[in-house]
Amino acid sequence: MALVTSKEMFQKALTKDYAIGAFNVNNMEIIQGIVDAAKIEQSPLILQVSAGARKYARSAYLLKLVEAAILDTDLDICLHLDHGEDFEICKKCIDDSFTSVMIDGSKHSFEENIRLTKEVVDYAHAHGVVVEAELGKLAGVEDDVKVDARSATFTDPYEAKEFVERTGVDSLAIAIGTSHGAYKFKGEPYLDFERLKKIHSLIPETPLVLHGASTVLKEFVDKCNSFGGNIPGAQGVPEDMIRESTKYGICKVNIDTDLRLAMTAEVRKFISENPAEFDPRKYLGPARSAIQAMVQHKIKNVLNGSNTL
Ligand code: G3H
Ligand code: 13P
Ligand code: ZN
Repeated sequence: MALVTSKEMFQKALTKDYAIGAFNVNNMEIIQGIVDAAKIEQSPLILQVSAGARKYARSAYLLKLVEAAILDTDLDICLHLDHGEDFEICKKCIDDSFTSVMIDGSKHSFEENIRLTKEVVDYAHAHGVVVEAELGKLAGVEDDVKVDARSATFTDPYEAKEFVERTGVDSLAIAIGTSHGAYKFKGEPYLDFERLKKIHSLIPETPLVLHGASTVLKEFVDKCNSFGGNIPGAQGVPEDMIRESTKYGICKVNIDTDLRLAMTAEVRKFISENPAEFDPRKYLGPARSAIQAMVQHKIKNVLNGSNTL
């Protein structure tokens, strides 16, 4: 088995209305929890690495851990750069054998985003690597975004079509109301499904990507808070909304916050209940198991991706 691109995964996901989980990885236990879940569920898998992860764990360690995961599980895995901010970091990851990179030009003007994305696409495609780009801006706290502001920050469907045609990008991250982190909505959760449907109808062959797709599972928030944490009012994207989005072209669902919460909840619980223990394996083991169970739940019940290998 090997590092693979997401091309085939996305083609199947697009026609069958399921999505591939793209999970952020930062250390060995997180990687093991995720790949063990994918193995049990027989699900395709994207592991993604942010600039912060590269800085924390150091790129060479993450690469070798992912190679070890392939050896250990016999899974094909797509290794993806999350939110690459310039051509240089994308090139570095492509040269380091990543099979997929994201160039996030969403902070630039439309024309500059196109120019930058095209530059990365040309280099990546020449090396057999696929590219995700982003158009539109993820909301901060969505509740504060008024309807007028929405059209300024959310992805414009016609621009999305032009963007894909002019860049030749392989997949597109869109903004329809999600945001990163544990505080996504102040009031009722809202995603602009009409906008998503329009985008999908204009570019039906393009796999769409949903960033900020953690649900912020109550079970983990409550556990964190009951063992000394302080994360009140955390709220994510309800699972039925994620499920719904996979019907309209969402093929890749990005999840990081739910991993962080699952891990932290278990570590907090163990340390609080066992004050005399100081062996990290004692709390990182349960944390790894919690990640595995959570990722299995996502694959099975939210992404509809079990047995899709
Ligand atoms: O895009 C955001 C991901 O959750 C990665 O977060 O930059 O703190 O590693 P990070
Ligand atoms: P969450 O913060 O919702 O997990 O989103 C992660 C993400 O989009 C990584 O790119
Ligand atoms: Zn993201």
